[in-house]
Amino acid sequence: MSEFDVIVIGAGPAGEVCAGRLGEAGLSVAIVERELVGGECSFYACMPSKALLRPAELLAEVARVPGARETVCRELDPADVLARRDEVIHDLNDDAQVPWLENLGVTLIRGHGRLDGERRVRVDEQVLSARLAVVIATGTGAAMPPIPGLAEVEPWSNREGTTSKEVPESLLVIGGGVVGVELAQAWASLGARVTLLEALPRLLAREEPFAGEQVADALRARGVDVRVDAKASSVERWQDGFRLTLEGGEQLEAERLLVAVGRRPLTADLGLEEFGLEGGKAVAVDDQMRVAGHDWLYAVGDVNGRSLLTHMGKYQGRVAAGAIRGGDGRATEDGPGAPRVVFTDPHVAAVGLTLAAALEQGIEARAVDHAMAASAGASFYGRNAPGTARIVVDEVEKVIVGATFTGPGVAEFLHAATIAIVGRVPLERLWHAVPSFPTRSEVWLRLLEKYGF
Ligand code: NAI
Repeated sequence: MSEFDVIVIGAGPAGEVCAGRLGEAGLSVAIVERELVGGECSFYACMPSKALLRPAELLAEVARVPGARETVCRELDPADVLARRDEVIHDLNDDAQVPWLENLGVTLIRGHGRLDGERRVRVDEQVLSARLAVVIATGTGAAMPPIPGLAEVEPWSNREGTTSKEVPESLLVIGGGVVGVELAQAWASLGARVTLLEALPRLLAREEPFAGEQVADALRARGVDVRVDAKASSVERWQDGFRLTLEGGEQLEAERLLVAVGRRPLTADLGLEEFGLEGGKAVAVDDQMRVAGHDWLYAVGDVNGRSLLTHMGKYQGRVAAGAIRGGDGRATEDGPGAPRVVFTDPHVAAVGLTLAAALEQGIEARAVDHAMAASAGASFYGRNAPGTARIVVDEVEKVIVGATFTGPGVAEFLHAATIAIVGRVPLERLWHAVPSFPTRSEVWLRLLEKYGF
């Protein structure tokens, strides 16, 4: 039996960061991975989707800027984009990712890890024991909705949707959340005829209503058939592709079918039952990522269901590493208000609460909006480019509790809002944070002026 201070199961971003922090601090750490070191984000989600989206986004930006647009004389070539995507995901090989862990002294063990008693993990025939802690970081897989016929037809999930070697002639997407809108736009920009189905009345339903509306407009402008309030009643194989029947009877056919309706925790075969936990469900943890009743067991990343975002999983990994080292006592402030970016064109970048969520929580909230294009700086990114900035102010505390930016390239705006919200910076102080001219950050000035300063 091999002994380590800590065993981490799952080498996605959350597990890697947790293991790396502990290894860096001199602890002996094993990390168990059955697929690719780097996890879903590196190979099948964040990274390849951005590689697919960015070229068309950049071309659209150049086309909006006089002085540059005249020089762009070629259309996007899908082969170039797919080649760049393959480079970003290293052709689904994790060789480049492994040295980072090894340099921090972390031992990589390949195989499926499963709890095998207290502080023990079995990987195939090998049994590992942990002196201090076991960290579960096994992530999530794509959820499948209970649409009759769907399970039999083997649709695409985010995996095939980000790594396909070919641009499908036509693509049906079920789910107008983050994965659905990003991949609908990516494949449409590469020439696929895309239909996007969302069961709710709008896209990106958890964000401010204007975000989903602007993304829907942008998708439609690129030829995507966006349908909200659209519920599938059945799916079947049809010719070389798929046929989907909507409630109401209309039938839609496409070469490929992508399902993007959320995630399910990968906890079915982890031996959790022995510890009173339910396989297949998220592993509930406290704010230091510890499982109640088992002071040696932690869960970080998507698998704990708190905040399904890579950066929040990594943050949880840092918190857990601190707690295991016995130490810094830092607890997470994650949850649904975490910063989040949808990398469509326009971007949707949001942090904290939407107006509706703030009101629901009983906050005396007021929203202030400003058009992203209405500043001198914005003219250099294309006049009249779509986009809105919104802050949600707590009228009692006089601090910002939520912010949303939509528009081309606004992802990088988000961190200023995150700092204002996490730091609970009083509006009175924020007024003295003067944005440079002519940057688009002047939107902050306009928002505060509109608020009443
Ligand atoms: P999601 O929960 O964001 O969206 C799923 C959507 O599918 C919802 O709008 C839901 O109403 C709809 N839906 C559910 N069942 C349906 C049905 N039968 N027919 C039509 N629509 C249906 O889930 P998604 O997009 O799969 O993303 C998974 C997770 O990954 C999210 O938590 C997201 O935050 C994260 N993610 C983050 C990204 C980023 O940060 N840029 C990129 C992609 C994913």
